[in-house]
Amino acid sequence: MKKDVRKVVIAGNWKMNMTPSEAVKAVKETAALTAGKNGCDVVLCVPFVDIAVAVEAAKGTNVKIGAQNVHFEAKGAFTGEISASMLLEAGAEYVIIGHSERRQYFGETDETVNKRTKAALAAGLKVILCLGEVLEERQAGITAEIVSMQTKLDLADISAEDLKNVIIAYEPVWAIGTGLTATPDQAEEVCAIIRNVVCGLYGCEAAEGLTIQYGGSMNEGNAAELLSKVNVDGGLIGGASLVPEKFAKIVDAAQA
Ligand code: 13P
Repeated sequence: MKKDVRKVVIAGNWKMNMTPSEAVKAVKETAALTAGKNGCDVVLCVPFVDIAVAVEAAKGTNVKIGAQNVHFEAKGAFTGEISASMLLEAGAEYVIIGHSERRQYFGETDETVNKRTKAALAAGLKVILCLGEVLEERQAGITAEIVSMQTKLDLADISAEDLKNVIIAYEPVWAIGTGLTATPDQAEEVCAIIRNVVCGLYGCEAAEGLTIQYGGSMNEGNAAELLSKVNVDGGLIGGASLVPEKFAKIVDAAQA
């Protein structure tokens, strides 16, 4: 149960914010404010059209760039979709898959999350796989069952070798964009449940090496306490990642 065996990753999810010119400015500011903060990896997951310019702006800095979705097919008649090889050639290193907003608004299921994850890993991307319970599930006392099931279904048929390129982001849906944060104990409890499921699937050594982030109204005020928990290895940050000064403070909180 040692946090120092795994990488702490602070990732921003810009969602549908930032035009390319705004992205360049924000990446440069974030890079300047987080320079030399090597206690964690720093990732910004940006809209597709921002990737190329964001990668250019992040060159030579410690900021890595990711996307927010990827299609599972390599190419073809899938209007509006983006393939893993397109993301890679644009310079993305990471991709968020299975965010609750995609599950809620765009018909994403555990099956499609699993297919996208496999395609992204096969292409050489690192995956930030999002899962978490909705409010009704928490109130019904079935959070553990829900996240356990999501973990199993989303990771189905993914090899132990590929798991090394997966980060799981535990994002309770009721905490996203609401200002309601899970308490550090709630975050710790569910991250530990997820790690335990991964231990059952891949063995406990692999599970101990897995980075599990918390996401949901994480900000510069609550990050340190959340990140102090032994099973919380980073954050996936929405709103606060749009403001480089706030995001940099969360990166600071991860240096401990
Ligand atoms: P907020 O930090 O805005 O709550 O968003 C969290 C999130 O959805 C990150 O993916």
